[in-house]
Amino acid sequence: MASLIPVGLAGFGRYVPEKRLTNQDLEKIVDTSDEWIVQRTGIRERRIAASDQVTSSLALVAAQQALADARMSPEELDIVICATVTGDQPFPATACRLGLDLGAKRAGGFDLAAACSGFVFASQVAAGLIQSGQHKNILVVGAEILSRILDYTDRNTCVLFGDGAGAVVYTSLERAGRGELLGGSICMEGGAEGVLAQPAGGSRHPASTSTVEQKQHFMKMGGTKVFRFAVRVFAELVKNVIDRYGLDDIGVIVPHQVNQRIIEAAMEQLGMPMDRVFTNIDRYGNTSAASVPIALREAYEAGRLQKGKLVVMPAFGAGMAWGHLLLRW
Ligand SMILES: CC(C)(COP(=O)(O)OP(=O)(O)OC[C@H]1O[C@@H](n2cnc3c(N)ncnc32)[C@H](O)[C@@H]1OP(=O)(O)O)[C@@H](O)C(=O)NCCC(=O)NCCS
Repeated sequence: MASLIPVGLAGFGRYVPEKRLTNQDLEKIVDTSDEWIVQRTGIRERRIAASDQVTSSLALVAAQQALADARMSPEELDIVICATVTGDQPFPATACRLGLDLGAKRAGGFDLAAACSGFVFASQVAAGLIQSGQHKNILVVGAEILSRILDYTDRNTCVLFGDGAGAVVYTSLERAGRGELLGGSICMEGGAEGVLAQPAGGSRHPASTSTVEQKQHFMKMGGTKVFRFAVRVFAELVKNVIDRYGLDDIGVIVPHQVNQRIIEAAMEQLGMPMDRVFTNIDRYGNTSAASVPIALREAYEAGRLQKGKLVVMPAFGAGMAWGHLLLRW
């Protein structure tokens, strides 16, 4: 068997829309308070896309930054993968629009729908395609405009989420010269459709006057179940990495930015101090597939990626689907 080609991270970028929606703004829209939101979630504000922006427009800015960082032209890209659950439309894939807008003339592409785990899963698909020698340069973007599927009369959900995009360019480690992708995990547990979902608009509940009237095109969530699930799998995923590599090898944990309390509870279960984890949930809320790549770029800018040490990226969400990505910086 031919030997596998080591994969590296050549460049990464992030983009969040300019408009800020603060807790104080939300106090005027639903029955909530800044104090409740900060105590329960750690979120202070989130970004909201402008009315003329679509998911591919957010993805485009993040992707252009990632390509510039990688010193790679769009024509060099072989594959574009867009992880999203709020694409420009159900089909064609948002990746097709993104590839066109980028000028990725040679690239093939597709979307990957795994909610908050989308970026982590898509990165592992990209890694496999490069390792096998099938493709050389792959752009993975996590991009969401969750504000378009939120019901701003439902305080259970509308305070938690925001919009944004993060992008990474993967290539051979030899060309990238940094950030070796060591692999990860992809897990799921079906039968949890009611826990966290956008119920209508697919074959189960096609769009109709009644689905619109019943607000079934908005996100629905059972918060407590998701909370318990997220703490459990976050701790499990990181523990597996500790068992294999040892605690000292972990430079930083860059988790899905789900909720400050979930992150703190998982870190407590692991017996690890909070200075081992990077969070930006206070500024963006939960941006689903965009949260890990946005946080990864910001962790880098903050000097939190340590040379030679592991970056562990656990993610978890609707499905229930969860997994992790492991990088040696
Ligand atoms: C949603 C979440 C913050 C609620 O926190 P919690 O500690 O479970 O909430 P509590 O049980 O203390 O309180 C629930 C009460 O708060 C109320 N509440 C919910 N949202 C509120 C808001 N924004 N403002 C004020 N009150 C709110 C509920 O109506 C409920 O009231 P009731 O007891 O009168 O019915 C928490 O469950 C959570 O973060 N879950 C995970 C959600 C998530 O991250 N999903 C995405 C995963 S990818």
